[in-house]
Amino acid sequence: MSLPEIDLMVYPDQCDAYGHLNQAAFLVLFERARWDMFAAGPGLDVFQRAGVWPAVRRASVDYLAQVFPGDVLRFQQTLTHLGRTSFTLRQSARRVRDDALVATAEFVFVCLGQNGKPTLVPAIITGLLEEMPEGEAVRRITVNGVGLAVDVVGDGAAILFIHGYPLDRTIWRHQMEQLNGWRRIAPDLRGMGQSDAPDLGYSMTTYADDLAALLDSLGVESVVLCGLSMGGYVAFEFLRRYRERVRALILMDTRAENDSPEGRRTRDAAAQAARDHGARAVADAMLPKLFARETADLVGEPWRQVERMILATPVPGIVGALAAMRDRPDSTALLESLDELPALIVVGEHDRITPLASAHRMAAALAESQLEIISDAGHLSSVERPAATTAVLGKFLAALPPIGD
Ligand code: MLT
Repeated sequence: MSLPEIDLMVYPDQCDAYGHLNQAAFLVLFERARWDMFAAGPGLDVFQRAGVWPAVRRASVDYLAQVFPGDVLRFQQTLTHLGRTSFTLRQSARRVRDDALVATAEFVFVCLGQNGKPTLVPAIITGLLEEMPEGEAVRRITVNGVGLAVDVVGDGAAILFIHGYPLDRTIWRHQMEQLNGWRRIAPDLRGMGQSDAPDLGYSMTTYADDLAALLDSLGVESVVLCGLSMGGYVAFEFLRRYRERVRALILMDTRAENDSPEGRRTRDAAAQAARDHGARAVADAMLPKLFARETADLVGEPWRQVERMILATPVPGIVGALAAMRDRPDSTALLESLDELPALIVVGEHDRITPLASAHRMAAALAESQLEIISDAGHLSSVERPAATTAVLGKFLAALPPIGD
């Protein structure tokens, strides 16, 4: 049993004096879409049959684009977390005429029994998660009180992929599919992708501690650590705290230097823009700098994929990551101390955020490093030139000494 998509029309009475869909109406539409989906799927009485009532415990809605009367919105929902008595639904609404993502929402429900007390989630709901096609079911692991979404595929020695800001684990799609012979682990950092986004608690230390706890949960002792951009900054902190768990390092489109005073002010201004205008402000500022070419038309699908990722990032996750990046220390001395660690540095030929000069400086600081330049790529090599990126990673991984040597 899967949950069908639902199309709903926006009516004039749901809009404010300026013609925009008003906030209360958006919540109503999300709720209507949810019940319509149940009606078209397991039945409107799905909870009644099980003798439970799903009460909303927490709701968050990110408004991403304007909506006017006459627009048709397509609602999708995914069951992203299942507890004993609670479950989380993530919903998204896209405008049908141009496929623009106009809002995302996350609702945490607690199941109440007839006596009003929390009771077990009914089997019909747990079945929804189990019956999602392979690859769609999101695995979630709670670490340090925060639920992280994580993909784990393959067998062999482990490689941990850490995405950049404000992105998610799907930037590693090609590498996750292709690097056979390795146990590939790609989580969403707290505050991004489908992981929980607490209001507070973001720093390079918490990101690194989350990853160490995630590896503990998966029974993984040591990894090849592969971080892109902010993922590289998290990798530095992981090395400071858990050096013994890292058998090789891949630094992609990142830099060892910390922020200048001006860079820190820019982080604060970006955080304010995100608070005031949501993820759209971040997407508009970042997208033209991320790829080898500067417009959506020239870049094509990778642009749209990354735009969707940024727009779906919760504002607390954006603000938290900006503060964590602003406050990170310089890591040049750390790299100089990693005498015997095999390291690969990968950089896009046209990376404008962490340019070639930064990659060369990291290569000079790391004793055992090699540098690969991905031609015709900007800051997001793994998304823009996935096959070329996977090829250089595969070559580096194949040359590593087997575990235990
Ligand atoms: C990233 O891509 O993770 C960030 O843009 C890095 C940064 O802003 O320093």
